[in-house]
Amino acid sequence: MDLGAHVELVACADLEDEAVRALAELLSTTSMFRSSGDPPISAPQLAVDERINPAWMRRTRALAWGGSGQLLGTSVVQLEDRADNRHVAGVEVDVAPGARRRGLGAHLLETILPVAVADGRRLCMGSAPEGEPGAAFAAAVGLEVGQREHRNRVPTADLPRDELLRWVAAAQHEAPGYELLSVDGPLPDHLLEPYAEAVAVMNDAPIDALDLEDVTFSADELRSAHEAIARRGTERWTVLALHRESGAIAGLTELFLPAHDRWLVEQGDTGVLAPHRGHGLGRWLKAVNALRLLDERPDVEVIQTWNASTNPHMLAINHAMGFRAVGVEALVQGDIEPLLERLGRLT
Ligand SMILES: CC(C)(COP(=O)(O)OP(=O)(O)OC[C@H]1O[C@@H](n2cnc3c(N)ncnc32)[C@H](O)[C@@H]1OP(=O)(O)O)[C@@H](O)C(=O)NCCC(=O)NCCS
Repeated sequence: MDLGAHVELVACADLEDEAVRALAELLSTTSMFRSSGDPPISAPQLAVDERINPAWMRRTRALAWGGSGQLLGTSVVQLEDRADNRHVAGVEVDVAPGARRRGLGAHLLETILPVAVADGRRLCMGSAPEGEPGAAFAAAVGLEVGQREHRNRVPTADLPRDELLRWVAAAQHEAPGYELLSVDGPLPDHLLEPYAEAVAVMNDAPIDALDLEDVTFSADELRSAHEAIARRGTERWTVLALHRESGAIAGLTELFLPAHDRWLVEQGDTGVLAPHRGHGLGRWLKAVNALRLLDERPDVEVIQTWNASTNPHMLAINHAMGFRAVGVEALVQGDIEPLLERLGRLT
């Protein structure tokens, strides 16, 4: 099939400035992590996000260029070299609105999947927004829904300052056995092992039908991840709840503040370890970071986060903070081999 496109494969770390600019323009229109009315993704932001990754993460892009040099579409495969989930390859496909329904999306997926096969991966996994072309495309190529996630946002202007202050005050009687520690940027070495153990709490979050193993990070992997974030110029605000008696990390939360597209802050992991639940630590942790944002970063307009639609506890806290769903994304998955056969028939 002649798609009128020239497709090249590039390691994201090696993306040229021109490709980054074209990609920023394309993804500003197509990215499923954006909402209509959002400012465009800036090239300087995308450049660091694409090129700088932890040492254990490899990302490769297919870029489909049209005859007059415009970027028609892209796909990406993400491979993580860590102990768990070595069967998985993350994938994304984006096609410019004017180039859709010509088979380019299917072709871009078919082009990128062999990178995952060559690395021994069995399963591919991606996201598709419900009720939009992405979900229809995913179903058409044979990917199945493993979980549904809400993409939630709160405008900082809607954060309930008084309620957040009450959550902080409540900790005095609800959580007297705990104290908070805020760390900006990469965690210091002595906290990496305890943090690696604590962040395993994220495995308690529901995964529904996703074909995933529990995720475990080594201290070295965390160090590399934190360094990559710092090299992007992204600020990372971590707040830890420490159990006074044992010194153990009882809970954690983190915000990521990008260097260039400063209006949008991403909420990272939030978790309270099972023995420490029921003391309002989740509310306390999140309130402290949100209040700091209000006080120190008036240029931030929105906080964005993702939550499984089957995670009522996290959703309850987020709802009370003013987060509202702006979209539902299906996490889709499928074995690569049958997928490639099917794509071969489609393209
Ligand atoms: C999803 C996306 C990549 C599809 O790109 P595309 O080039 O239009 O896809 P294709 O032409 O290869 O479509 C392959 C099949 O998917 C299905 N499909 C794709 N878009 C569809 C739509 N809007 N409605 C119904 N079915 C659709 C069709 O069965 C299509 O085959 P057909 O055209 O012969 O009927 C594109 O719409 C996009 O960039 N969306 C935003 C990003 C996104 O959501 N990505 C998630 C991908 S999992």
